[in-house]
Amino acid sequence: MAGQGLAIKWILFPEDLSQAYEVRRKVFVEEQNCPPEDEFDVIDKISEHAVLMDSDDNALATARIFERSPEQASLGRLAVLKEHRGKGYGFTIVDHCLQRLKKQGYPDVLIHAQTHAIPFYENLGFEVIGDEFMEDNIPHVEMLHKFDDHSAIFFENTQI
Ligand SMILES: CC(C)(COP(=O)(O)OP(=O)(O)OC[C@H]1O[C@@H](n2cnc3c(N)ncnc32)[C@H](O)[C@@H]1OP(=O)(O)O)[C@@H](O)C(=O)NCCC(=O)NCCS
Repeated sequence: MAGQGLAIKWILFPEDLSQAYEVRRKVFVEEQNCPPEDEFDVIDKISEHAVLMDSDDNALATARIFERSPEQASLGRLAVLKEHRGKGYGFTIVDHCLQRLKKQGYPDVLIHAQTHAIPFYENLGFEVIGDEFMEDNIPHVEMLHKFDDHSAIFFENTQI
C-alpha cells in the first residue's frame, strides 16, 4: 500500500500533460542528463499517462502506457521524484498500469528497462528477454511481463 491521501490520475493528450512532464523533467533531464529534446516525444500523444498525486495536488511519480501492436502493450518513462523513492510509489504506479493494460486485453507488456532497475521490475513479474543495449547513453534491457494467473496476486495486494 503506497499511503493514504494518494490517488492515480490518468491523463491523455490533448489534455494537459504538464504534471507528468514536470516529474519526468526533474528525473530524466535534470538527474539523469537525458537530452530534453529526446525526453518528450510523439509517443506521448498516443499514451495514457498515469500520475501519482498527493492530497495537495502535487505529482510524485509518473509512467506512460501505449500500444506497440494489437497484441502487445508497452510501459515507459517511469519516474518517481528522488525525495519520494523507496516508499512503494514506483511499484504502485506500475501495478496500476499493468491492471489497466490487462483489462484492455493485451496478452503481454514489453519494456526497455534501465539495467539498474531490473530487480525492481522482476518484483513486478517482468523477465529479461534480450541483451543489453544503450539508449540515451544509459544501459537498458528488454523485459516482458506476461499476464497469467500469477500476476493477479499483485493486483489484489496493491491499493491506494
Ligand atoms: C526505479 C524507480 C522507479 C523505483 O521507484 P521507487 O518508488 O523507489 O520503488 P519502490 O519503493 O516502489 O520499490 C519497490 C521494490 O523495488 C525495489 N527497488 C526499487 N528500486 C530499485 C532499484 N533501482 N534496484 C533494485 N531494487 C529496487 C525496492 O527495494 C522494493 O522492493 P521491496 O518491496 O522488496 O522492498 C525509481 O528509483 C526512479 O524513478 N528512478 C529514476 C528513474 C528510473 O530509473 N526509471 C526507470 C526507468 S526503466
